[in-house]
Amino acid sequence: SIEQKVDSILKLMTLEEKLGQLNLPSSGDITTGQAKSADIASKIEDGKVGGLFNIKTVEKIRDVQKVAMEKSRLKIPLLFGMDVIHGYETTFPIPLGLSSSWDIPMIEKTARIAAIEASADGINWTFSPMVDISRDARWGRVSEGSGEDVYLGSEIAKAMVKGYQGTDLTDNKTIMATVKHFALYGAPEAGRDYNTVDMSRIKMYNDYLPPYKAAIDAGVGSVMASFNEIDGIPATGNKWLMTDLLRTDWGFDGFVVTDYTGINEMVDHGMGDLQAVSAMALNAGIDMDMVGEGLLTTLQKSFEEGKVSMATIDTAVKRMLTAKYQLGLFDDPYNYCDINRAKTEIFTDEHRAFARKVSAESMVLLKNERQTLPLKKSGTIALIGPLANNAVNMAGTWSVATKQEKSNPLLEGLKTVVGNKATILYAKGSNLAADLAYEKRVTMFGKDIPRDGRTDKQMLDEALEIASKSDVIIAALGESAEMSGESSSRTNLDIPQIQKDLLQALLKTGKPVVLVMFAGRPLTIQEEVETVPAILNVWFPGSEAGLAISDVLFGDVNPSGKLTATFPRNVGQIPIYYNHKNTGRPLNNNEGTFEKFRTNYLDVRNEPLFPFGFGLSYTKFDYTNLKLSSNQIDSNGTVEVTVDVKNSGNYDGKEVVQLYIRDMVGSVTRPVKELKGFQKVEIKTGATQTVTFTLSVDDLKFYNSSLDFVAEPGQFEVFVGTNSDTTMKAEFELK
Ligand code: IFM
Repeated sequence: SIEQKVDSILKLMTLEEKLGQLNLPSSGDITTGQAKSADIASKIEDGKVGGLFNIKTVEKIRDVQKVAMEKSRLKIPLLFGMDVIHGYETTFPIPLGLSSSWDIPMIEKTARIAAIEASADGINWTFSPMVDISRDARWGRVSEGSGEDVYLGSEIAKAMVKGYQGTDLTDNKTIMATVKHFALYGAPEAGRDYNTVDMSRIKMYNDYLPPYKAAIDAGVGSVMASFNEIDGIPATGNKWLMTDLLRTDWGFDGFVVTDYTGINEMVDHGMGDLQAVSAMALNAGIDMDMVGEGLLTTLQKSFEEGKVSMATIDTAVKRMLTAKYQLGLFDDPYNYCDINRAKTEIFTDEHRAFARKVSAESMVLLKNERQTLPLKKSGTIALIGPLANNAVNMAGTWSVATKQEKSNPLLEGLKTVVGNKATILYAKGSNLAADLAYEKRVTMFGKDIPRDGRTDKQMLDEALEIASKSDVIIAALGESAEMSGESSSRTNLDIPQIQKDLLQALLKTGKPVVLVMFAGRPLTIQEEVETVPAILNVWFPGSEAGLAISDVLFGDVNPSGKLTATFPRNVGQIPIYYNHKNTGRPLNNNEGTFEKFRTNYLDVRNEPLFPFGFGLSYTKFDYTNLKLSSNQIDSNGTVEVTVDVKNSGNYDGKEVVQLYIRDMVGSVTRPVKELKGFQKVEIKTGATQTVTFTLSVDDLKFYNSSLDFVAEPGQFEVFVGTNSDTTMKAEFELK
């Protein structure tokens, strides 16, 4: 058995070699701004490295693995990790975009393809899925997750683990997944990355922890610790989190890796010196130390001083060796080093065609007045904006394997899709941001075309000139790729002012304007919603961006994406999310009229700009006949919910039918709505489809104040509709 094999190796290991297995340096090979770790080869020879990350290509990985296999005493193979987050070289939309497709099998397939490409390049371990729930769009990393909802987030977490890992991890086309960042990383105070998190247990259990657990139940091989503290103790050193909850309660038996220098950072958190925090991390349940080398350099001393036991060290080492067995590396250390695969399995036509489809499915139509969209493939079209011909910004954050320059910019996609049927005129119109220093900050890894040498006025004049010659204007505006993602928190979520000014100038021409909005998070676009006739939110669409956007703009694909994160009216409304609690002083009008001594603001109404689940289509869906199979269910029963959805518009289309419940009375306060089911259905124009959901008692369960997972008897409301604002409802009672 694997256990016996692991034990037999463990017996041969010196303490130094054991600590080596817990060490994960970065090769510094990939330009993510990280420094190269010195002397990697000699460390590997000395048995001081368990795995390496930020290295790719079979040639390089084979060379490094060879050092471990031929020069180290025990010949233990290395793990090779990488941030394969939303695709590999074939890049899919950023995860927030992927989640907006609500298409679980499709999302699973994106992870499958990412695994095929990454493994063809020598990689066997990814730091994905990121399942951190977030209700705060100021936090830049909302782009990397699936939004604000636990139910949807859990479904996506499972699908991604399955996609990466398949059913057999030894298969060299699958890679080990890492669920991250455990835990609660998406709830930093004030939305500032890496900031303190403080949350009640009941909120954790109900609203934040389920997606991590879903990934673990789906068999994820590893877990990454988050940077934040939980109950006053950094996650990396938190024994309750890493052992009591993760292992004892949830039964996780894989390994836990820290985030980048997560152990060392506990010194700044104020938990002691490097020796103290390293012992704390190991004793809490950490198995692998990313970059910081605290475990490697201090545990011998801590062992001698009785601060860590050999049994605890052995447990961590065993987990690392087990993972290597699971990946088939002990049978064949070069399992992922097939030199021929990269040529035929990476960035293939088939993968790119799929990425184009996925990107189109993830886009969300936010506004479409007077059927401005879809556009006709005729006449003259002006394409204007700093993101209109900007390949390097199409893939979005954390796309380290993407060849940015190979991404398809909108201008190119548009030309391909319209062919010679229409004339396309292009102008940049403005820089990404007015302030050069700021623009540099948000195009950090060179992700912009060089800043224009012309003045703002010259650029604007050129844009207005081509606008005047055209029948319709497409304005490609929004965030640059690095305006969201890690370390990209913002306190102002508007489109940068220089681009807003450009847009208003284009609107003044009186020509119809379509805003194609690039964004890594919900943006505050109240002004644009009031003034622009059509807005298509495209996130960062990935390597096939231009083609996919054009497919939607011209109606070759009818948009079907739905928001998975609420769009606020202004930053002051944050945190804002659909599944909030009621208060003792709810606002009793739907008009947004201010009422003294009720819960509301003096200066803005309570409702968001766009609710969770919102997204338009070129067609229209009518919901009727909401029915329940029974008005009562008993403690092991189910209730069937059916609804008729008619496509009453002029286009075939897809609709995400959403089901929410409300638990009317609880032993603790319950949210006003909770997503408990969804189905993405394709309905031809004129046709009606009956959609059926089955609710079981498990769907009614929640964590009560003793943290028991219970369903409490009483009345429930069921809502079904096109977004979380739906009011169509029925009721039943749990006996
Ligand atoms: O996987 C990432 C993590 O999400 C943020 N810090 C660095 C890690 C490795 O690159």
